[in-house]
Amino acid sequence: MAILRKHLQRPDVRIHLLARQTNHRRIQRFKLLARVGLLRVSENAILEPTRNENEIGGRLMSYHVRPLRTGDLQSVTRIHNAACRARESTEGTRAWSINEMREFLFASHASLQSFVCVENGAVVGWTALTPFRVKEDAKHTAEMSLYVQESCRCRGIGSALAHALLKQATILDLHCIFVMVFKDMPAGISFAERNCGFSITGCLPELFADGGKFYDILVLERLVQ
Ligand SMILES: CC(C)(COP(=O)(O)OP(=O)(O)OC[C@H]1O[C@@H](n2cnc3c(N)ncnc32)[C@H](O)[C@@H]1OP(=O)(O)O)[C@@H](O)C(=O)NCCC(=O)NCCS
Repeated sequence: MAILRKHLQRPDVRIHLLARQTNHRRIQRFKLLARVGLLRVSENAILEPTRNENEIGGRLMSYHVRPLRTGDLQSVTRIHNAACRARESTEGTRAWSINEMREFLFASHASLQSFVCVENGAVVGWTALTPFRVKEDAKHTAEMSLYVQESCRCRGIGSALAHALLKQATILDLHCIFVMVFKDMPAGISFAERNCGFSITGCLPELFADGGKFYDILVLERLVQ
């Protein structure tokens, strides 16, 4: 409260409006205090999201995206393994150990760039760009992996992660990014096309076997401008 009062007394004050219900209520209280003269708000006060929030499609979000650290490996593995169990990961259905994830992200194909999304202190999604092949002629091509915890989907987290990662593609001097999604998963395909700007470039028919059935995998590609 003391901090907010200090801020509100600045002539260029900006009220940081949080999206969650509790914070909306808190802001209403501050506004009331301002109205009765206990807090002074300048004429040009602006309502805006706090720096820890992303605005996606006009919605304010209470999470933030930051680079992946080794301390995130446990959460990242947990999210990935849940996707493996749900047959959402084209890497396979077998759960990975934390060491396998470490190997994937930091060793064998050391990821070029990776991010996590954090909400209320917990990692709820992650993404990484890994080299397609560790070969000179394919150096400009990378594969995007992206997973969001099931309970947190459809709130813009996947888009925020993809946006952060794809922004790095130019800096990394990449030319081509691809992603692989199961053909029978319309949510993943629609997400890659509509939210990330990928286009379907091919199909790997019956590449993936699970429980005696074969599944097609689509390859979606996006050229870096
Ligand atoms: C794909 C995935 C990363 C999306 O994460 P998310 O946090 O839900 O993503 P967003 O909230 O930013 O976007 C959701 C989008 O998914 C798509 N989507 C979600 N559910 C859908 C459904 N039932 N049918 C069709 N499209 C759907 C839509 O394009 C939707 O966009 P909209 O909200 O603008 O309509 C997440 O579902 C996931 O982890 N899936 C399993 C792993 C995977 O398939 N990874 C490859 C991704 S390229």
